[in-house]
Amino acid sequence: MAACFLPASMASQVQRMLPSSSSSSLRPLPVINLARLSKDPATRALAIQDIARACREQGCFQVVNHGVSKNVMAGAFEAASEFFQLSPEHKELFASTDIRRPVRYDTSSRDGISKARSFLKHYANPLEDWVEYWPLHPPSYRKKMGDYAVEIQRVSMQLMDAILQGLGLRPLYMQEKLEKGVQFLALNNYPQFSHRGDKVGLAAHSDYGFLTILLQSYPGLEVMPHDRDTWTAVPAIPGALHVHVGDHLEVLSNGRLMSLVHRAILNPDEARISIASIHGLSMDEKVCCAEQLVDEVNPAMYRESSFHDFLEFLPSNINNYKRYVESLKIDRA
Ligand code: OGA
Ligand code: NI
Repeated sequence: MAACFLPASMASQVQRMLPSSSSSSLRPLPVINLARLSKDPATRALAIQDIARACREQGCFQVVNHGVSKNVMAGAFEAASEFFQLSPEHKELFASTDIRRPVRYDTSSRDGISKARSFLKHYANPLEDWVEYWPLHPPSYRKKMGDYAVEIQRVSMQLMDAILQGLGLRPLYMQEKLEKGVQFLALNNYPQFSHRGDKVGLAAHSDYGFLTILLQSYPGLEVMPHDRDTWTAVPAIPGALHVHVGDHLEVLSNGRLMSLVHRAILNPDEARISIASIHGLSMDEKVCCAEQLVDEVNPAMYRESSFHDFLEFLPSNINNYKRYVESLKIDRA
């Protein structure tokens, strides 16, 4: 920012608008070319290093050349936006206070963090187990969202393979468990920011599971990367997918990776849709610190837990943890 060319009074105004820490020394959020994972071993090794570093130092990154076609991504947005445009009666069919329901629509906060969003949440992997519960309206919903879910599950497998290798765990470690694992889609619908209301649409939190892969129609996702203490907007790069570390990856890595705190703010120009895909082990599979990352110097820092345990935890979050993983820390004092 060329603040020195501004009159002194304006320059100090601009200065006050800048984040408290000097943004010039911060690394931009990484954008990783995922096609490099399928190239020669040296190129693949470098891509794995980039992914490992992004996870460790920032907790998130974006991926391009991930192989999910523009059509499939556009189809997912169409399906989501057509669903949200349905009459309330159609959407209310899925309204439920029971967070274990396979498909759930809601407009208000039962999780304590939604401020201004409506959402549809449902499971997606394996698709044949879940698709029969999905909305029948709009008529193309199952096909378009199903195609997207399958492609994103594939990307999640590639990413987890790279991340586990980056942690020094055997590359095929857990592959089978991940293939059968949970994929949980959250379709979020945010109104345009109105100057009277709160600018936050979804309050600060981390996601459970290992990874979240998120597609946003317009900017609005903000993250708190590990290398700074300021909210940072995730730019909406056309065709890119945003990826961040979840609580269970923090547990598995025994604290070498940390889950990312993030939130959604309302876009001043547009209503906004985001599609978050959360990936983890199956419902009752316990996640614990990987054996290879636990020794005398690095004792296990977290108790084991499952996706199921997380669902049980939600209504009882009386400590208002932003990160579920805080509740799993072993007190060694
Ligand atoms: C979520 C989430 C962010 C967004 O669904 O868990 O963090 O941009 N969404 O909607
Ligand atoms: Ni989230």
